[in-house]
Amino acid sequence: MIRVAVAGAAGRMGQAVVAAVQGAEDMQLTGRADPALDTALADVLGDADVVVDFTRPDTALANALACLEAGVHVVIGTTGFDVEPLRQARGANVFVAPNFAISAVLMMRFAAEASRHMAKAEIVELHHDGKLDAPSGTAARTAQLMAGEVPIHSVRLPGLVAHQEVILGDVGQSLTIRQDSYARESFMPGVLLAVRRVGELEESPLIGLEHLLF
Ligand SMILES: NC(=O)c1ccc[n+]([C@@H]2O[C@H](COP(=O)([O-])OP(=O)(O)OC[C@H]3O[C@@H](n4cnc5c(N)ncnc54)[C@H](O)[C@@H]3O)[C@@H](O)[C@H]2O)c1
Repeated sequence: MIRVAVAGAAGRMGQAVVAAVQGAEDMQLTGRADPALDTALADVLGDADVVVDFTRPDTALANALACLEAGVHVVIGTTGFDVEPLRQARGANVFVAPNFAISAVLMMRFAAEASRHMAKAEIVELHHDGKLDAPSGTAARTAQLMAGEVPIHSVRLPGLVAHQEVILGDVGQSLTIRQDSYARESFMPGVLLAVRRVGELEESPLIGLEHLLF
């Protein structure tokens, strides 16, 4: 059994992760850390093999460093923070994914390929209006994987979950690649895969679900 604690357990994503871990036969939920639950991350580290972090951009790095110091592997879904300091950190493994949905990973892959054959591209990313960071981690990662400069436009509206269009243009033609996460369950198979694999990574931090899928 993998003992899993969730940081940000009271949040939109954290609640979905708690349910997914409870539904996984090879995992045991050992802790739920969140200021909203009056439980600090430090209180749950002693009982965990892996922490899954879906918190805020301003706390994800400190949380990850606390996990590593305690020798606990960490799977990070939080976006909009600088991962560079984690390259120096040791103690346990770190896996980071800006997007845990398989359709989003495929969208990034197809966009990267298409950008090598089309003249220009722009990204429109659309998210719910509770999202703190802009541009989204997925859009930033997509642009990083694509050839050339790729401008990003951010839309924040109630009712949306997580959506992205990559629009590529060339003489007399265009190509649109669109990905939609309609529900937070879309991220859960990727999160559980990362929890199962984070302990055996050969490289840390490892960034991107594609490294576990392909
Ligand atoms: N990687 C992905 O696939 C993916 C998908 C969706 C969202 N996200 C990202 O996940 C993060 C969370 O999104 P959300 O919509 O669930 O946000 P949310 O605001 O609903 O939840 C965040 C939770 O973290 C808690 N929190 C704050 N500081 C904390 C700390 N120090 N320790 C523990 N918990 C703390 C808050 O109280 C809150 O309950 C965001 O960065 C978002 O961009 C990533």
